Amino acid sequence: MHPTPPWTLRRPDVLDEPLVAGLADVLIDCVNSGASVSFMQPFTRERALAFWSDVARGVASGARAVLVAEDARGICGTVQLILAQPENQPHRADLAKMLVHTRARRQGLGAALMRAAEGLGRECGKTLLVLDTVTGGDAERLYARLGWVRVGEIPNYALFPAGGFCSTTYFYRDLAAV
Ligand SMILES: CC(C)(COP(=O)(O)OP(=O)(O)OC[C@H]1O[C@@H](n2cnc3c(N)ncnc32)[C@H](O)[C@@H]1OP(=O)(O)O)[C@@H](O)C(=O)NCCC(=O)NCCS
Repeated sequence: MHPTPPWTLRRPDVLDEPLVAGLADVLIDCVNSGASVSFMQPFTRERALAFWSDVARGVASGARAVLVAEDARGICGTVQLILAQPENQPHRADLAKMLVHTRARRQGLGAALMRAAEGLGRECGKTLLVLDTVTGGDAERLYARLGWVRVGEIPNYALFPAGGFCSTTYFYRDLAAV
């Protein structure tokens, strides 16, 4: 762990244009480095901006909460909670788009974002967080290391950005129990 991390974390109330642009850069970096996070290559900046503009509307409506990490070069990581859930699941949120720019990886930022997301979930009155991730990827190791409970695996759930099936693994975190 860094004694003083080279990043700061915050939860913006509004995703304005510069934030949307910085988040798009991180998403493009992740997709182009092979992360299976909903998108296929070639991944255009226009599509990345459209995705984050939609997230910005979700933040404005309260349906989503986004955390951003910034270093000296700008946004270097993000994670979000999808707070809006069916009326019989008000205590639950989905954790999504956990992204660390390749320049900032393997320094503990992923772990810091996950801890912050758990805190944010509590602040938002959530007691259960759920996510899914590529089976056998870096993120699966991270979630298991942080104590998330592995539920199981669905084979051939999605595609890698350059093609080829990947399986997904579901995890949950019972915030009431930790
Ligand atoms: C998965 C992901 C978020 C992890 O982010 P990260 O910032 O690298 O995560 P961490 O630094 O906390 O941990 C990663 C590794 O670095 C190690 N590490 C952490 N701090 C370290 C340090 N100071 N020095 C050396 N290694 C360190 C961790 O032990 C971990 O090791 P492991 O991979 O062998 O288990 C990142 O790889 C990513 O964005 N991938 C692409 C997008 C993606 O797949 N997202 C998941 C969607 S569900």
